[in-house]
Amino acid sequence: MIHQMKKFIKDLTVSSLEHLNDKHVLIKLTDSSPLPPMLPGQFVEVRVDKSSFTFLRRPISINYVDTERNELWLLVAAIGEGTHAMACLNTGDKLNCMFPLGNGFSMPTASDQRFLLVGGGVGVAPLLYFGKYIRKMKSEPIFLLGARTGKDLLEMDAFRELGTVHVTTEDGSVGEKGFVTDHPVLQREHFDQISTCGPKPMMVAVAKFARKAGIRCEASLENMMACGVGACLCCVEKTTVGNLCVCKEGPVFDVNRLLW
Ligand SMILES: Cc1cc2nc3c(=O)[nH]c(=O)nc-3n(C[C@H](O)[C@H](O)[C@H](O)COP(=O)(O)OP(=O)(O)OC[C@H]3O[C@@H](n4cnc5c(N)ncnc54)[C@H](O)[C@@H]3O)c2cc1C
Ligand code: FES
Repeated sequence: MIHQMKKFIKDLTVSSLEHLNDKHVLIKLTDSSPLPPMLPGQFVEVRVDKSSFTFLRRPISINYVDTERNELWLLVAAIGEGTHAMACLNTGDKLNCMFPLGNGFSMPTASDQRFLLVGGGVGVAPLLYFGKYIRKMKSEPIFLLGARTGKDLLEMDAFRELGTVHVTTEDGSVGEKGFVTDHPVLQREHFDQISTCGPKPMMVAVAKFARKAGIRCEASLENMMACGVGACLCCVEKTTVGNLCVCKEGPVFDVNRLLW
């Protein structure tokens, strides 16, 4: 679904920055005026000022919007120059953000619909805000979250506050041992839709499972991006209807449109 929502470029203020483990930070941003409406699955293009080699903005998912506190949360894995610079921000610093960009996940249309939200690694980020929306629609989100080890699991308390949480870790330190697609909940329970975000091999495996089980499935792609608004074509994905810009036509796609 493409949403024509007004976009903003704002200098948001860092209200807090929490190091969740040695790689991941949770950055909470606020503004003097109310934050604009944003949808789960949409993202922010962050201008990284304190990194001389990061010329282009970096796309980061909307992790959560706390409307009461007027806060936008970004969950960031520090993997390169730009994201390392983000992890070094301090409370009170400004972060220039262009948002909200892209489309969003399809929402439940009835409260009895069962949505399974499958995330891996930092790909769990957009699922927290999506869970909040599903809850708002009087439905209960079911999360299936995967990580390498227990210490790589992110924001578990926040996910548990919103719905039922199933976990897999590759080393078996928490939850079921293995990949998300090994979790018995997939065989045991009925789902109306699966929404997934994470490493591509994980999303491809989830899409294959959903296709076989006849369940509608959406995946949020993380192709490399530059402009974030459909102008540079660097993020294109081959689809059943030709090349589409992930930043503008996505990042969320019905997996049946993808050539996976
Ligand atoms: C729609 C969207 C939403 C995203 N949401 C989040 C999020 O919520 N949290 C988060 O931590 N990250 C997210 N990412 C990924 C994030 O944008 C990249 O990790 C970031 O741009 C890397 O910038 P850098 O300057 O730190 O790394 P660079 O120095 O540019 O690159 C470091 C390494 O990471 C690789 N890399 C760069 N961009 C990507 C990418 N998009 N996917 C995979 N590998 C990449 C490079 O090839 C290189 O090997 C998202 C990406 C997209 C497209
Ligand atoms: S990032 Fe420029 S077209 Fe998508």
